[in-house]
Amino acid sequence: MQNIDFTGKNYIVTGGAGSIGRAIVEIILDCGGSVCAIDVDEKTLREMETELNTPRYTYRALDLSSTTVIRENFADIIAGYGQLHGLVNCVGLASTMLFEDITEAEWNKIIQVNLTGVFAAIQSVYTHMKEHGYGRIVNVSSVAGKIGGGLIGRGAYATSKAGLNGLTKVVAKEGGAYNVCCNCVCPGWTDSRMINHLMDDANYKRLQGMTSMRRPAAAKEMAWPVVFYLSDLASYVNGTVSSVDGGLVYDG
Ligand SMILES: NC(=O)c1ccc[n+]([C@@H]2O[C@H](COP(=O)([O-])OP(=O)(O)OC[C@H]3O[C@@H](n4cnc5c(N)ncnc54)[C@H](O)[C@@H]3O)[C@@H](O)[C@H]2O)c1
Repeated sequence: MQNIDFTGKNYIVTGGAGSIGRAIVEIILDCGGSVCAIDVDEKTLREMETELNTPRYTYRALDLSSTTVIRENFADIIAGYGQLHGLVNCVGLASTMLFEDITEAEWNKIIQVNLTGVFAAIQSVYTHMKEHGYGRIVNVSSVAGKIGGGLIGRGAYATSKAGLNGLTKVVAKEGGAYNVCCNCVCPGWTDSRMINHLMDDANYKRLQGMTSMRRPAAAKEMAWPVVFYLSDLASYVNGTVSSVDGGLVYDG
């Protein structure tokens, strides 16, 4: 029986202080890996340091809307590790505006964090991974990117996630020859800070109606599929954009 073993391997998780990101960080540590969590939420990153209590956890409090910040810090993290084995792009910003109400400021803010920042993050690790002949990149997208929004996130959010699904395939197609694999998990309704502060009774019932399992995923239920793609159990999986949604999109 083969288990996931990240011993001696190094990972970056963006959005690492978020509900799903933190669950991913915890599983990587449980599986023996080292992980640098990056998030704008410094307070939570610091609390995690105390709670996780291992030198294999490090963090950087960064605003990932700046590609300059991303490129500089990623280069520094990679230099510190010597080799980076995997990157999880879990950072995400929700937007609920209906299409005709989306301002250019809102559009640019969401696309910058959810898509352009992820592009810069992947580019910051890609050549390094290519040179080492090993890299695992997992993007955390959303079912919104497949169905034009509709859970809570709308217009700009759904578009940014659709772009992320496309970016996943681009990186997979070019990286595969170098054993740099890129896959994407599209969560459905997940118990998280992002969705819970936008939730009310009406929305809860609506999401129950959309989701055949009639309940939100726990953050760990979303983190495990991400970690699977990060691991060598998925060594031949590349370019997959998979829904993890309790039965919602049904796109195979
Ligand atoms: N919760 C859901 O139902 C759901 C559904 C579909 C997709 N997702 C996706 O899952 C991912 C994780 O979200 P979550 O549900 O854990 O929510 P979350 O809000 O708990 O996590 C998102 C994290 O991103 C961080 N972040 C936002 N903007 C940032 C910036 N500019 N710089 C650095 N960090 C920033 C936040 O501080 C937060 O910790 C996101 O990409 C989200 O779009 C979530």
